[in-house]
Formats: sequence, C-alpha cells, structure tokens
Amino acid sequence: MNFESAKDQLTKVLVTEEQINSRVAELAAEIDKRYEGKDVLLVGVLKGAVMFMADLSRALSISTSMDWMALSSYGSGTVSSGVIRILKDLDAEIHGKDVLIVEDIIDSGLTLSWLETTLKARGAASVEVVAFLRKPDAAKVEVPVWLVGFDIPNEFVVGYGLDYNEKYRSLNCVAVLDPKVYS
Ligand code: IMP
Ligand code: MG
Repeated sequence: MNFESAKDQLTKVLVTEEQINSRVAELAAEIDKRYEGKDVLLVGVLKGAVMFMADLSRALSISTSMDWMALSSYGSGTVSSGVIRILKDLDAEIHGKDVLIVEDIIDSGLTLSWLETTLKARGAASVEVVAFLRKPDAAKVEVPVWLVGFDIPNEFVVGYGLDYNEKYRSLNCVAVLDPKVYS
C-alpha cells in the first residue's frame, strides 16, 4: 500500500520508502561492525517490527538467528497503558547469547525497558536495542537505545509495520494518521 491509496486517512508522509532503505543500510553497517565474527540473535517484537526485521536482517552480513516476542502495551487505542503482557514468548533459551532487540518504535519507553530487563534477567551475554523510530517522550525514561532509525515528532504514525487497529501495516512509508480516523 502506498500513500496515494490511503490519502484520505493520512495527513502527511514523515519518512519515505527511499529514506527507509538508505537508513536501514546504514544501520546494518553499524551492526555488522559491532558484531563482527559473532553470532547474533535478533529478537523482533511482533507485529510492528516485522517489516524492519525483514529488511534489516537481509542487509546484514554477520551470522544471525531470529526469534520473536509479542507484547501488548496498547490495547486498541493510541495512548500507552504502561501495562505489558507477553502474548507470545521466545521459542528458545537466550542464556549466553548476544541479543539485539529489533523494535518498531519507542514512545513512552515502557515496553522496551521492561523487555531489556527481562532478557538480561534470562542471562543473555549482551542485550542491545535497534529501534526503527523514536518519539520525543522516550528521552524522559532511562532507556539505553543503541541505534535509532529516525527521531519523529509526537504524532501517531502508521506504516512500515506500524498499525492502527491492525490496519496500515503494509504502507510502504511512515505517515501521520489523520486524527479524524481515531477521534
Ligand atoms: P511504549 O511502551 O510507549 O514505548 O510503546 C511502544 C509500542 O507502542 C510500540 O512498539 C508500538 O507498537 C506502539 N506505538 C507507539 N507509538 C505508536 C505510533 O505512533 N503508531 C503505532 N504504534 C505505536
Ligand atoms: Mg511494538
């Protein structure tokens, strides 16, 4: 899906498909450099990080494995509840592994700080974070994020994996959802 096909529900494009592609390549180069010679477990957070994981993992040269977790912090609204539930846990043990969390967006940072603590407690050798997007509020919380794709303003965005009520995940760019859709 592109911006044109949902133009009546979106206000503007924040990140274009071209910008996404070139930034993903830059992030992959950073990751390759840091983990050279290592085996990295990419932990994707479902479902928002699916597109980012697919593109980022294919841009990497290092050896990787993939696992997924599904967490819920939002319900169906547009404001974080702060309550995190595991909807789907990792398939395998992570003890002794170098883990790279692949996240779609950091808003309040609650999901991420919870996830980082949880994976460290399971005995991972290292836990780092690469987030595709970050909103300004993330700065208020103590969340150490190694890599960020784009810093965006405090607006509700959809596309490239990000949804509103499960819609717009397949949009090929990142766009601001018209508030009339959820108000
Ligand atoms: P946090 O715990 O507030 O950082 O929430 C992060 C999660 O909320 C993300 O992984 C997304 O699933 C969701 N989220 C936060 N902001 C947006 C947005 O603008 N659009 C879509 N989903 C969002
Ligand atoms: Mg998410």
